[in-house]
Amino acid sequence: MTDGATFAIQPNANPIPASERAVRLENPGFGTVFTDHMAMIRYQAEKGWHDAQVTARGPLSLDPASAVLHYAQEIFEGMKAYRTPAGDAVLFRPDANAARFRESARRMAMPELPDELFVGAVEALVNIDRDWIPAVEGGSLYLRPFMFASEVFLGVKPSSEYLFLVIASSVGAYFKGGKDAVTVWVSSDYTRAAPGGTGAAKCGGNYAAGLIAQAQASENGCDQVVFLDAVERRYVEELGGMNIFFVFDDGSMLTPPLGTVLPGITRASVMTMARDKGVEVREQLYSMEDWRTDAASGRLKEVFACGTAAVITAIGEVRGTEHGFTIGNGGTGPVTRALRDELTGIQRGTRPDPYGWVKKV
Ligand code: PLP
Ligand code: COI
Repeated sequence: MTDGATFAIQPNANPIPASERAVRLENPGFGTVFTDHMAMIRYQAEKGWHDAQVTARGPLSLDPASAVLHYAQEIFEGMKAYRTPAGDAVLFRPDANAARFRESARRMAMPELPDELFVGAVEALVNIDRDWIPAVEGGSLYLRPFMFASEVFLGVKPSSEYLFLVIASSVGAYFKGGKDAVTVWVSSDYTRAAPGGTGAAKCGGNYAAGLIAQAQASENGCDQVVFLDAVERRYVEELGGMNIFFVFDDGSMLTPPLGTVLPGITRASVMTMARDKGVEVREQLYSMEDWRTDAASGRLKEVFACGTAAVITAIGEVRGTEHGFTIGNGGTGPVTRALRDELTGIQRGTRPDPYGWVKKV
């Protein structure tokens, strides 16, 4: 069995030259610039977690009968490493990602990776690829831990073998052009998650099922899709890849309750920061009718999306087959801006970290 200290490190013999890396880091966009290495741990029912290693990033060889290719037994995480003004590489709440990864694994009948192996793999990769953290404003190293069923078997049952990997991608803003505020599309045709389903797990299947709705959003000139609840098709749940918050004229905030939505780490952090300032934050159902009425009356002042990739981004406009309205003046409001400045300040080491969220690698 592998413990946290036993990652075999085999550095890439042909890393991308520093001059070429510098070019790629100038304007990285999101999710297309990859680093030189990857971390990997194997799992077999009879051996447990073993063979932890950091190697050159490269293709995997998979048998065509590998279970993941048929029944989609796969989960992932999304987190970022930042460079502080002092030049350190830091992670934001890695323990929270490790815990959510275990929860996702449990829901998908997969073995739970111990937190010290999860965090150990992420740290080992950041450590060897730290030169890939972009220096551009808003830049970071996006880390993608994931695990999939690798048993060669076509019967429908939980796999007895898995691969856990971490890859890293140098990124800038998630939304093209670093938009001030985004436009969202309310999906009336598709839902994301039903009670008893996998909405709270970060499994690839949730995203596959949501792609058609995200494509409709794009066809309608929108940046993200908003999913409504699957039972009444009335209450706002979350976006394709972000949680959502509403800010009212009395200063209070609301976010949809957990259950069928992803328990976002940014969502939890925003709630902590806001409540710490005395702001009332309700985890409560919020209907499309209320959203439209409150936007029209001016009771609703700001709406924002939040997540690791999106950080905190204002939602300026809402569209859909039955909807079309603007929030406030359609831009980023003061509450959204203040929360974003505080969160990014903590993450990037330019503001104090009163919660102990940041971990140096
Ligand atoms: N909701 C969905 C569907 C997501 O994919 C994400 C992104 O990870 C989030 C919410 C936000 O989660 P977090 O803040 O942990 O990144
Ligand atoms: C993340 O924010 O980490 C996600 O997984 C969401 C996706 C839109 C990239």
